[in-house]
Amino acid sequence: MTDFAGLVAMVTGGASGIGAATVEMLAERGATVFVYDRDPSASALPTVHSLTGDVTSDDDLAAAYATIEADAGGLDVLVNNAAISAVGDAGANDRDEWRRVLEVNVISAARVTALAAPMLRESYHPAVVNVSSFGALVGIRNRAVYCATKGAIDALTLAMAADYLADGIRVNAVAPGTADTPWVARLIANSADPDKELAALRGRQPMARLISPAEIAWAICYLASPHAGSTTATILPVDGGITGVRV
Ligand SMILES: NC(=O)c1ccc[n+]([C@@H]2O[C@H](COP(=O)([O-])OP(=O)(O)OC[C@H]3O[C@@H](n4cnc5c(N)ncnc54)[C@H](O)[C@@H]3O)[C@@H](O)[C@H]2O)c1
Repeated sequence: MTDFAGLVAMVTGGASGIGAATVEMLAERGATVFVYDRDPSASALPTVHSLTGDVTSDDDLAAAYATIEADAGGLDVLVNNAAISAVGDAGANDRDEWRRVLEVNVISAARVTALAAPMLRESYHPAVVNVSSFGALVGIRNRAVYCATKGAIDALTLAMAADYLADGIRVNAVAPGTADTPWVARLIANSADPDKELAALRGRQPMARLISPAEIAWAICYLASPHAGSTTATILPVDGGITGVRV
């Protein structure tokens, strides 16, 4: 498929996991892709460019967007993927920790998008895809802060879709279930019993397996593609059935 030929994309958190799979797929489908990550890895793909920056820094973002405009002439597709987690119930994290995770996961998705809007408005096929989680809709034990941020991402997706409608900028989200990424690998490795933890995570999924980053990247590319020109304000689960199925 070459549906992204001639288009320019930026993926936050594009150096790892779901972001990296999305970068690879966008590039394969013809996009010029910029990875925006606090720790970008060198990519072997010729069309992928690395930008070092933190999503919480407007200065980093302004510098990145200046580079994209100078080198690629504009931006068509933005994927708000970077996020962090925190462990515990609603009382386990102090106000600073709540603010830290909200800053990365929610406020930054809004700022990254708002600062990109001038370039997106110039595009013929502008699209924003946010990465939410099944945790927005299903209570997960000991993930109060994280689930709250993903609920906010769902609401922000719909609000931004409404605000940017007149500009022609489509805003959608994917909501993955538990995926086979370095994030989850760290979670498993740091648990008391990694084999048991992996079995529990798989067992929680109705399909009894973790979701591959490529399966989520495919959904992100669908929502970002010019072929999805009538799709906005959609939150697409890629979750192995965890929000909709009881077995
Ligand atoms: N892995 C899962 O099971 C799962 C499930 C549902 C949703 N998600 C969501 O998918 C997205 C990606 O998750 P993943 O598992 O691929 O994670 P990951 O940890 O493998 O990759 C995250 C990337 O984001 C970057 N990053 C983190 N904070 C940043 C910041 N402040 N500024 C710039 N870059 C930053 C990291 O350097 C890393 O490269 C997240 O939004 C996550 O909430 C993941």
